[in-house]
Amino acid sequence: MISQFIYALKFIQYKLTSKHKKGHGIHSPFMFFLITKVLRKNIINDDLKAVLNAHKKIKKSKQKINYKEIGAGSKYKQQTSQKVSSIVRRSSITPKYGKLIYNLTCYFNPKNILELGSSVGISSMYISQADRKANFISIDGVYEKQQIAEKKSKELNQSTKFICGDFDEILETTLTKFDQLDLVFFDGNHKKESTINYFNSCLNKIHNNTVFIFDDIHWSSEMEGAWDYIKNHKKVKVSVDLFRMGLIFFKQELSYEQFVIKF
Ligand SMILES: C[S@@+](CC[C@H](N)C(=O)[O-])C[C@H]1O[C@@H](n2cnc3c(N)ncnc32)[C@H](O)[C@@H]1O
Repeated sequence: MISQFIYALKFIQYKLTSKHKKGHGIHSPFMFFLITKVLRKNIINDDLKAVLNAHKKIKKSKQKINYKEIGAGSKYKQQTSQKVSSIVRRSSITPKYGKLIYNLTCYFNPKNILELGSSVGISSMYISQADRKANFISIDGVYEKQQIAEKKSKELNQSTKFICGDFDEILETTLTKFDQLDLVFFDGNHKKESTINYFNSCLNKIHNNTVFIFDDIHWSSEMEGAWDYIKNHKKVKVSVDLFRMGLIFFKQELSYEQFVIKF
């Protein structure tokens, strides 16, 4: 990861250069509705409230789990014992971005969803809450974390299928379980080459309305390199940089554009 100082500088730069917070100056109707109906949506319905409450509760969890971390962000290469609350604090999405992925899922109504990086299940709770009946598979290489995710998912009456394994080993077979992908949330193994590989594998299952969401696009120079490759890929029509997350759209009817939107 880049130093906290560089990350803060990048964030300030984003705040100064990002635009279109309210959709002003946007010509594309697709982008205008994305900004006004999703990014700026501030309605908290009962479903969202239930996940926000579950998120709040798990942030205080003193439960400890023993596990061996994998991936680029892993500080603990050996077997470690961590409180669930500290895993959430260190590596899960925040409520602000939880609301975003919930609103994106409600808006695009995907039926076939894949998540790379379940961890203890924070992002998957928000995604699944938008449509509990969707065909949603979430993968992670750490069984102990996924056990917590699965328990939380059941408590919310969600039906996310959790598969444990290394992305490098099981992504291709997991993809055979989908005829097509409507939404993919990439949030694990933040190495440039790996992220690009996962993106390319998932490209085989896209259609015109598929949405890809990448977390931590400015988290490291490797992730910035991966984001650069992805947003410039010939199949990508529109990219949206929200600083922490990046959105990718493939709609052929859109003009090719790269947005940096204030969020
Ligand atoms: C940033 S965390 C995911 C956080 C989660 N999306 C959330 O918001 O709660 C990244 C996760 O990816 C998993 N991971 C990293 N590299 C992996 C790999 N090569 N195969 C499988 N899982 C991996 C880690 O175990 C970790 O739980």
